[in-house]
Amino acid sequence: MTKEKIILTGDRPTGRLHIGHYVGSLRRRVELQDAGDYKKMFVFIADAQALTDNMDTPEKVRQNVIEVALDYLACGLDPARCTLFIQSQIPELCELTFYYMDLVTVSRLQRNPTVKTEIQMRNFEASIPVGFFTYPISQAADITAFRATTVPVGEDQEPMLEQAREIVRRFNHIYGETLVEPEILLPDNAACLRLPGTDGKAKMSKSLGNCIYLSDDADTVAQKIKTMYTDPNHLRVQDPGQVEGNPVFTYLDAFCRPEHFGRYLPDYPSLEELKAHYRRGGLGDVKVKKFLTAIMQETLEPIRTRRKEYEKDIPAIYDMLRKGCEDARQAAAQTLDDVRRAMKINYFDDEELIREQAARFAPSA
Ligand code: TRP
Repeated sequence: MTKEKIILTGDRPTGRLHIGHYVGSLRRRVELQDAGDYKKMFVFIADAQALTDNMDTPEKVRQNVIEVALDYLACGLDPARCTLFIQSQIPELCELTFYYMDLVTVSRLQRNPTVKTEIQMRNFEASIPVGFFTYPISQAADITAFRATTVPVGEDQEPMLEQAREIVRRFNHIYGETLVEPEILLPDNAACLRLPGTDGKAKMSKSLGNCIYLSDDADTVAQKIKTMYTDPNHLRVQDPGQVEGNPVFTYLDAFCRPEHFGRYLPDYPSLEELKAHYRRGGLGDVKVKKFLTAIMQETLEPIRTRRKEYEKDIPAIYDMLRKGCEDARQAAAQTLDDVRRAMKINYFDDEELIREQAARFAPSA
C-alpha cells in the first residue's frame, strides 16, 4: 500500500507552547510522526499569520519563532522525519493567497466564527486590519500549497478547515481538479479539545495568564497546580465535590493513564473511582493535586530535558529551519505550477498557447 497521507499543521509564534497545545495537537503530531504512516509531514511556524494581529510587535514574533521551534523539538518532532519551516519564508503562500482571495466573499469571512471571536477579543470591531480579516484565506493557502490531506489541530481551527475546503471545491470547480481537500484531525479525548486554564476559565491562553508552559521548570509547575482553581464549594475534605468544570479533573482526563495509579496513587484503581470519591466527599483537593503534579512532572520532565539539550546549539536550530524552508518551498512551488496552469496564467511554459495565438493573428490566406 502506498502512503497517501500528507500531514500539515502549525502554530502562531506569539509565546512559548503550553500544555493546551500539547494535548490539543502536539502530542498527536508526534504520535503520527512515530507511526510513520504518511508520505510527508510538515509542521510550520506561522509567523506571517502572527503578524496579522501583532504587526506592531515584530520583535516579540521573532523571539517566539525560536521558542516554538525548541518546543517542537523538545516534544519529539524530528527534522529527519518531518519538515519544520517558517511560513514567511515561502513566498508561494502569498501568491496562492492572492488567487484564493478571488474565491471568497467578504460576508463569508465575516461569518467565520473563529475570526468573529478573535475580532472581539482584540477590540478590532472598529478597524479590522485587512490582513487579519483575511487570514483564513492565507491559512487555506498554507494547507493546500502542500497538498495536505490531514490537519491535526485544535477544535478552534474547525472553521478554518471548513473555509479551506470550500476554497478547494470552488477552485476545482472553476479551474478543474487541481487541489486536495484537507480533513481536520481532532483530539479523540473531549478533555483535550479545549483544555481550560489553571484558573478554570474555558481556555488556556497566554493573555489570560493561566498557562502551564511546556518549558516551565518543575517548581513552577508544582506551584501553578497548587494554586489551581478547583470546585469553589468544596471547602472541607468531607464536602462532596464537583468534577465537571473542575480543571484539576479535566487535566487528569487529558493526562492520566491507568499505570499512573500504580505509581503515584495505589489506593485507587482508576480515575473513575477517584472521581466517585471526590463526588461523595472525603477526598481533599491537596491529594488530587499531588497526584496531578506527579503525572505532569513525569510527562513534562523528558520534554524539559530535551529542550535543554537543544538550547545548547541554537545556530543548529536555525540551520535545521533553513533546510526545512528550502524543502517546503520546493513542495509549494510544484503546487503553484499546477495552480498557474489551471488558472491559465502560465504564459511562458505553454507552447500550445503561443502557437494558438500566433495562428489567431496570422494574416488569413
Ligand atoms: N491558526 C493556527 C493557530 O492559531 C496556525 C496556523 C496557520 C495553521 N496556518 C495553519 C494550523 C495551517 C494548521 C494549518 O494555531
